[in-house]
Amino acid sequence: MRFGHFDDEAREYVITTPRTPYPWINYLGSEQFFSLFSHTAGGYSFHRDARLRRLTRYRYNNIPTDVSGRYLYVHDAGDVWTPSWLPVRAELDRFEARHGLGYSRIFGERNGISVDTLVFVPFGEDAEVQRVTVTNTGTAEKSIALFSYVEFCLWNAYDDQTNYQRNLSIGEVEVEQDGPFGTAIYHRTEYRERRNHYAVFAVNARADGFDTDRDAFVGAYNSLGEAAVPRAGASADSVASGWYPIGSHGVRLALAPGESRDLVFVLGYIENPQDEKWADGARQIVNKERAHALLGRFSTAEQADEAFAALRAHWTRLLSTYRVSSTDDKLDRMVNIWNQYQCMVTFNMSRSASYFETGIGRGMGFRDSNQDLLGFVHLVPDRARERILDIAATQFPDGSAYHQYQPLTKRGNNDVGSGFNDDPLWLIAGVVGYLKETGDFSILDEPVPFDNDPALAEPLFEHLRRSFDFTATHRGPHGLPLIGRADWNDCLNLNCFSSTPGESFQTTENQAGGVAESVFIAAQFVLYGAQYADLARRRGLADEAARAEAVVEEVRAAVLEHGWDGRWFLRAYDHDGNPIGTDAHDEGKIWIEPQGMAIMAGIGLGEGPDDTDAPAIRALDSVEELLGTPHGMVLQYPAYTTYRIEYGEVSTYPPGYKENGGIFCHNNPWVIIAETIVGRGAQAFDHYRRITPAYREEISDIHRLEPYVYAQMIAGKQAVRAGEAKNSWLTGTAAWNFVAVSQYLLGVRPEYDGLVVDPQIGPDVPSFTVTRVARGATYVISVTNSGAAGARGRLVVDGAPIDGTLVPYAPAGATVRVDVTV
Ligand code: GLC
Ligand code: GLC
Repeated sequence: MRFGHFDDEAREYVITTPRTPYPWINYLGSEQFFSLFSHTAGGYSFHRDARLRRLTRYRYNNIPTDVSGRYLYVHDAGDVWTPSWLPVRAELDRFEARHGLGYSRIFGERNGISVDTLVFVPFGEDAEVQRVTVTNTGTAEKSIALFSYVEFCLWNAYDDQTNYQRNLSIGEVEVEQDGPFGTAIYHRTEYRERRNHYAVFAVNARADGFDTDRDAFVGAYNSLGEAAVPRAGASADSVASGWYPIGSHGVRLALAPGESRDLVFVLGYIENPQDEKWADGARQIVNKERAHALLGRFSTAEQADEAFAALRAHWTRLLSTYRVSSTDDKLDRMVNIWNQYQCMVTFNMSRSASYFETGIGRGMGFRDSNQDLLGFVHLVPDRARERILDIAATQFPDGSAYHQYQPLTKRGNNDVGSGFNDDPLWLIAGVVGYLKETGDFSILDEPVPFDNDPALAEPLFEHLRRSFDFTATHRGPHGLPLIGRADWNDCLNLNCFSSTPGESFQTTENQAGGVAESVFIAAQFVLYGAQYADLARRRGLADEAARAEAVVEEVRAAVLEHGWDGRWFLRAYDHDGNPIGTDAHDEGKIWIEPQGMAIMAGIGLGEGPDDTDAPAIRALDSVEELLGTPHGMVLQYPAYTTYRIEYGEVSTYPPGYKENGGIFCHNNPWVIIAETIVGRGAQAFDHYRRITPAYREEISDIHRLEPYVYAQMIAGKQAVRAGEAKNSWLTGTAAWNFVAVSQYLLGVRPEYDGLVVDPQIGPDVPSFTVTRVARGATYVISVTNSGAAGARGRLVVDGAPIDGTLVPYAPAGATVRVDVTV
């Protein structure tokens, strides 16, 4: 069952009923100002940091789930309704919500009045703009009143949720009913003392009334759906003093049949220099110059339209770097639009703010952000560069890393600390991804602090060396890397035996940690350690390269000797030195992560798809047999049915959820890539389709979350609600699936010296064309594809056949034609 459809031409998903199984959201903004925006206008806005600079309030665990937002109420001769359906929930004659790239649009119509709202964060602005058109679609004259509504958050979203004894006394606003560009409401709580920022919510017309006190607007015992002012049809002109400051404008409109009125609402964030805070310090009147300048840029609908056109053009440019045109429209829309868009959002948000992450918890992850880069670097390489330097600056001198850092301060987070032993290696992955895309080797010479201490700065390349050495020198009894608090799997905590409720499994280590080893990190080390060695050689450091290669070979041998169970790769060794992920156990026999990663690292590949004795082929067949489901591959199987204290958090989840046998989509693309490496494109594409949202759209009633973006998890085959997704948007699944589909299935992959063109997608996509812009040149790659197992492409470059799959980089500005027959 579906709740809407894709509009690929417009690059939008169109939701045709407000009653989706869960709020389906979008993200507005990609620089400093961000909003979460659901299909019923729910969500909130923040500036840079979702915890510390929250502009509007969101109420968590609410009933219904999603009734904090920016709303417009219509009062039409006593009939009150909201075009976004929520919060009033009056039936609409027509409803449509469209989520596009950096904007959303909600259309609601009832009794001959339609309200069309386009909402977006203009490029270069710290503001959310709502461009509203109200139309009389009936045959009679209409006289209506429109009321806007936002509820302000008192900036620190955590404090705002918890510290009422202070907060209910500090709220302050100013109202400018006759401002130079209409009526503006200023939220200035804490501005009198240490803050130098305020919020402004304005409409580009003189409002007939306003409200800034929530109880006056809503009524002390009403829900937002029953708000008093819209019912009365007239604003109360309330001025908040403490309690709950809001912003609302009341605008009366008389509309002849067929007549429309445009209004522009702006919610802005303004920062004043410390010595320019006040227009009148003695009377404590806020300096509004910057706010007026902002409002002046959006004082007409035409100005808003221009800013919107610029945003659309910006996205057209961004998406032109990688485009496919194939026989499969679901594939095309994921590759060309939604997967790349989600990569931008995960790059911006890391794991901070979604409808499953409150924005008050986690910071930017060292591991997560490095992986996010892999799917983002082709979009805005300069921002990837800056991110790499920020991340690397939080690394410790011994090569280990803070697990998270705070975006506002760019400092490592002491609450979570360090000791996730996969973390350092992801830095190599991120940097190599950046280098292959850009060729900008100068980044390796950038001085970058350790532990944010400028006195400890060393060239970035030295950071990579220490990443490598940290793993090389922290190995256990089998010569495999020690796991520390966890590896990629946060819930495999082999050094934390916790029996105390509420204790963190990750930060409460109680074993020395010298025994438990990770086969996953071993495979990761073989992959990224080899990349480090390759890089060292390219820098002319032959000895260093040879030294690194020798360690990589040791670990490769250790994986084959101590990390192989006979039909698949083992997962780990526990604190007592016993294997995990072995056929000898009843539960947790086989885990997905080392299978994908080992094959990506080239361990046990054998002679291709028919070499059924090769570890790679055996492991992949076991994966499909034991982990495969119609909804994707589960993380491990059989899931644990009882608490295994010695394995940590993993078995705390009921069977089939999250790391305990859920389909943790992030690691599925590793297997997809592995299948392409052994030449089994058909299997790879099959796995791809099972988790990819556009292919799951028809089962939206089961999947329940947005059909245009990946979710972190889909409940596994042993779960009560198998096939149901959770944690959409902020997941490494976005970056890794973009890597899998763009670089391995479609097979166009940037390397140091050229683009590798090596499609492995199986027979279901018989022909396609990829247009790839790389280092300023454009490659038009047309593929005729038999999809036969093990078949590799034959390449003709600008009319001349070449050996192998590497198309050397052409000068910027050139167009290169590549014809491929597989
Ligand atoms: C979450 C975390 C990620 C981790 C994964 C598996 O997605 O953000 O860092 O690797 O869970 O535990
Ligand atoms: C990751 C996992 C989650 C776990 C958390 C612990 O995000 O996905 O299951 O609870 O890490 O920090």
